[in-house]
Amino acid sequence: MKRSRINEIIREGDAFIRAHGYCLPPFAYWTPEALRAADHAEIKRRRMGWDITDYGAGRFDDLGLFLFTTRNGLNGDLGKRSAMLYAEKIMISRRDQLSPNHRHALKVEDIINRGGGTLVLELHAATPEGGIDRHGPVTVMCDGIDRTLPPGGHLKLDPGESVTLFPSTWHAFWGEGSDVLIGEVSTVNDDLTDNIFEMDIGRFSTVEEDEAPLHLLVSDYDDKL
Ligand SMILES: [Fe+2]
Repeated sequence: MKRSRINEIIREGDAFIRAHGYCLPPFAYWTPEALRAADHAEIKRRRMGWDITDYGAGRFDDLGLFLFTTRNGLNGDLGKRSAMLYAEKIMISRRDQLSPNHRHALKVEDIINRGGGTLVLELHAATPEGGIDRHGPVTVMCDGIDRTLPPGGHLKLDPGESVTLFPSTWHAFWGEGSDVLIGEVSTVNDDLTDNIFEMDIGRFSTVEEDEAPLHLLVSDYDDKL
């Protein structure tokens, strides 16, 4: 994806988020130079910040997701009795923009419709080996109430509704009717190791540098911070 397109998506996403009354933390608006000059060690280590992904496929409008990680613990702290074992993201799924089928190895996440259109999730249970169970029903908790769907069933979440997804649930999702502002509250998030995709795709965009970055993406940190 071209950097100019990423910059445009950041501007559009920021406006959409603000229109729903949500405010990003101050470091979201630091320039790359300001981020480099600041004490950014924890921001980098916890991989907090902008994450605009086309899953490496170059078709953002069809296959992509806007994410911003506002807080995150560390995998190494998992298992401790008392530690920052949680993470939070704000995301945007555009209308009919697919986040492809995946599950997580460790992360448990609540996916929350924070406003906009209807969020549709296509769900499958995992087999005991971790594959996709295409024959059995899938049960998920939605705001404290268990719901059971057929394999590949579509769970529709209106604004205010949420679902809890354990590593035993495969999920793909998209916005229906309109773009959707999505909250994610989860255990520690590690996008380098924790996503298992059905398709052979990447997790991050491949960036073509055609203009200066407005803000660095988390996937830029290793090269540019
Ligand atoms: Fe997920």
